Amino acid sequence: MAQSKTFYITTPIYYPSGKMHIGNAYTTLFCDVLKRYKSAQGYDTYYLTGMDEHGKKVESAALEAGLSAQDHVDQIAEDTKALWSLMDIEYDDFIRTTEKRHKTVVQTFFEQLLKQKDIYLGHYEGHYCMHCESFFTETQVGEDHLCPDCGRPTQILQEESYFLKLSKYSKKLHDFITENPDFIQPESRRNEVLSFIEGGLNDLSVSRTTFDWGIKVVSDPKHVVYVWLDALTNYVSALGVLDQDPMLFDKYWNGDEVLHVVGKDILRFHAIYWPIMLMALDIPITFKLYAHGWYMMKDGKMSKSKGGAIYPEPFIKRYGLDAMRYYMMRELPFGGDGLFAPDAFLERTNFDLANDFGNLLNRSVAMVNQYFAGEVAQKNAQTPFDTELEAKVEQTVKTYDHLMDAYKPADALGEVFSLISRANKYIDETTPWVLAKDPAQKDVLEDTLYHLVESLRIIGILLHPVMPEAASQLFDYLNVSSDHQTFESRVFGHHPIYRVAKKVTPLFPRLDVEKELAHLKDSSPAKKAPKIEPLKDEILIDDFAKLDLRVGVVIACKAHENADRLLVSTVDLGEEKPRQIVSGIAGHYSPEAMVGKKVIVVANLKPVTLRGELSEGMLLAGSNAKALEVVELKTLNPGDLVK
Ligand code: MSP
Repeated sequence: MAQSKTFYITTPIYYPSGKMHIGNAYTTLFCDVLKRYKSAQGYDTYYLTGMDEHGKKVESAALEAGLSAQDHVDQIAEDTKALWSLMDIEYDDFIRTTEKRHKTVVQTFFEQLLKQKDIYLGHYEGHYCMHCESFFTETQVGEDHLCPDCGRPTQILQEESYFLKLSKYSKKLHDFITENPDFIQPESRRNEVLSFIEGGLNDLSVSRTTFDWGIKVVSDPKHVVYVWLDALTNYVSALGVLDQDPMLFDKYWNGDEVLHVVGKDILRFHAIYWPIMLMALDIPITFKLYAHGWYMMKDGKMSKSKGGAIYPEPFIKRYGLDAMRYYMMRELPFGGDGLFAPDAFLERTNFDLANDFGNLLNRSVAMVNQYFAGEVAQKNAQTPFDTELEAKVEQTVKTYDHLMDAYKPADALGEVFSLISRANKYIDETTPWVLAKDPAQKDVLEDTLYHLVESLRIIGILLHPVMPEAASQLFDYLNVSSDHQTFESRVFGHHPIYRVAKKVTPLFPRLDVEKELAHLKDSSPAKKAPKIEPLKDEILIDDFAKLDLRVGVVIACKAHENADRLLVSTVDLGEEKPRQIVSGIAGHYSPEAMVGKKVIVVANLKPVTLRGELSEGMLLAGSNAKALEVVELKTLNPGDLVK
């Protein structure tokens, strides 16, 4: 048997800076749809996704959540996997950059590049955006010194840093992109990258010394590897690149088709840094890059960390997974931005899914039952309407394949729904209820109904990658065996006889748009404010008694040298020696304001080192989204117990 062609598809690995929203879910779903399509086409597919768990942003988010960085990323990785499972995402591997299999590759690559002098040690002073973890030039930040990517203020930062020689590979990369016109898609993005390269590439700073949460440079461990160099490596570390794993790396990376799907905001990293890293490491650039646009909300951009976003779960739970998968895939045009609007979602569900698609199935099955006791076969009674419908089916399959092969599922879906409309119109044209009155037209009627169910079978196969549940229900209602659900069987007449179900329960019930909009508004997080945290599990008094809480007086306090959010307090607990306690309160208190406060300290907490400073306890504080207040006492003395 001939070997199947291979298809390796990847999502970006996601930052665990918050819960995944519709935008992140879009990239993941897009890859799932393409993987399912390619698998049906006979490709041997491999789908990789995962989490980008290092970097300053993640460290800060963990600190804010009061967790260790590892606990924080573990939690978000679990939540993310749960969402992908709810969305029926068929990924093959989920890589996390905190895994050993990944770290080893990053460290080995870094040392190799150092050894061959593609990475060198230098100094960097520039405008640094904390949020984007990138340095920018004077011209890029403009007069106001704002980050050109996210618009936040930048700050001048100087550090010793390793640099990757982008400049050395600039011409080679430019040639590569010109010689491979389909390397970056859509074309507008390709042009954007080419002009960026033509503007001149500065060497890239690829290490940091200002925080710890990253992969250490083996030969100089005060540096951690720049988060993008770390993250990009995932595409090959997951395949076992160091051992040239024949079942993964060799098979898929060096296979027939490799596609990195990314959002437009992270194009430059994938179109410039990643190919240059590969060139320097002498690993072939086998991938193509597709940069999609963004889902916007009516009131602007979505943000994971700032919380202004739409999340998939409530839609899936209330309206079903397929309605959600359909809307998400349909609404974002190739390469462009789109609007995720709840009213448009409800309307599309009604018009496209309940009316057009659902009704076509209901009406067809009902007529096969009504006129032929549930059983129809292909007859030799072809009318011009039949010929036209067959031609439409044939043309739809062709165009659909062409569009899916060009990574355009939204347009491919458009074609399928145009066929669905055509099939509905065919019912109006052929008027089966009139034919049924004339016994001489029995074969014409049977052939008409056959044409409907046969079209529906092919529609089911085409919709399967996007709406797997609805397609499989459709096959059940039409009683289509799995060998007639294949890619090859999308040929009119392939399934000669149908014995359909007696009754169809509508695949997509019609929704009352007004009522649902009100419901969505009521259940939106904004409406629920002020949010009350759910109670934690019940404990016994003995559990509480394990805490040793004592009164302490802050006798000195300073800012933490390596962390903006932390203060380092010296606290007298009535013991022989005062203790040092690090707290994430710098955004709310100046060091001077802390001195003299009588606070409550968790005195038997295991000491930890936070960014290089020992912390021997914890101060109690209350907080909400906006404010934080340290709990204070008035007259008690250091060392007094709090119970
Ligand atoms: N960690 C990096 C990627 C490293 S890949 C080696 C990252 N993570 S992210 O979580 O911020 O974003 C992941 C993906 O979600 C990006 O492709 C981004 O474009 C996409 N989206 C984020 N918001 C989006 C929308 N509103 N709409 C569509 N996709 C968007 O970047």
